[in-house]
Amino acid sequence: MSNKEIDWSNLGFGYIQTDYRYVSRYKDGKWDEGAVITDPDIVLSECACVFQYAQTCFEGLKAYRTQDGRIVCFRPDLNAERMADTAKRLVMPPFPEDRFVDAVKKVVKANADFVPPFGTGATLYLRPFMMGTNPVIGVKPADDFEFRIFATPVGPYFKGGAKPITIKVSDYDRAAPHGTGNIKAGLNYAMSLYPITVAHEEGFAENMYLDAATRTKVEETGGANFIFITKDGTLVTPKSDSILPSITRRSICYVAEHILGMKVEHREVEFSEVKDFAECGLCGTAAVISPVGRIVDHGKEISFPAGMDEMGPVTKKLYDTLTGIQQCRLDAPEGWIVEID
Ligand code: PLP
Ligand code: COI
Repeated sequence: MSNKEIDWSNLGFGYIQTDYRYVSRYKDGKWDEGAVITDPDIVLSECACVFQYAQTCFEGLKAYRTQDGRIVCFRPDLNAERMADTAKRLVMPPFPEDRFVDAVKKVVKANADFVPPFGTGATLYLRPFMMGTNPVIGVKPADDFEFRIFATPVGPYFKGGAKPITIKVSDYDRAAPHGTGNIKAGLNYAMSLYPITVAHEEGFAENMYLDAATRTKVEETGGANFIFITKDGTLVTPKSDSILPSITRRSICYVAEHILGMKVEHREVEFSEVKDFAECGLCGTAAVISPVGRIVDHGKEISFPAGMDEMGPVTKKLYDTLTGIQQCRLDAPEGWIVEID
């Protein structure tokens, strides 16, 4: 598809093939120099470790068009760092973090025509990913790997844009049986495909996953962390070793505390206290900050009066400040914005 055919203001969260992607291959114990290429297809052995044992992981970040026409990325160094952590947990060689940021810049620059115009609500989503490529049949990690980044223009993650969503408390655990949730691994997400399908069939936008051991504490959703606002305006975010350390959530906590002067608590959140919060939202690269209006727990409903029809006032303040920083309408803390030249 040419960028001229794209209706930027009406994009959903889907894949649109763009012109360029980055690839680097790991063989004989080292990464090659890498290149920006045009071919979107990957040809691998049927026995590649990625197919047999799901040795794969990914990241997600965005490039934004500013009001004066520049292109910027938001904290790509943190994606590089988190992907290196994920890679180590999956016995994959981390892609060097400085080269990760450089590769992000190259892919965005090459696909500059696909960075949506300012004010359309759309952005260019970047998907760095890595996989074990050589044939492996006994259960063990691969020796050869491929690191890639592709780009696709996207609109809002949830249908209806900024309208509050309804989610359900899931009966399933989000993390893979032998895995942990705090890495962005293919298998974590494969295990969440069944529960998200059930949720969608029942008319819910997402699942609220509880902790696997006691099912009493709030973890996260399939693709975003939670933020809660108490009645006295404190930001509360769940703390757990088995949820993804969201870059958006960490940024929101910083913004709340240091820019908006709010009280911030990053702590375990009991499901039983959720009914007492004034506002609830989901945060992530794809979700940005999406308000949650209602949570359904096996027929029992918890609703957030402040955010039933539109974003609650505190969530809105956080949303405006975060997106203002990401689009360079507001000053960013040191190092958060990386310019694509
Ligand atoms: N939690 C999960 C399971 C995710 O897939 C994502 C998306 O990246 C997030 C949280 C949010 O993380 P981030 O803000 O770094 O995009
Ligand atoms: C992201 O926000 O980047 C995600 O990975 C969420 C989802 C698309 C898996």
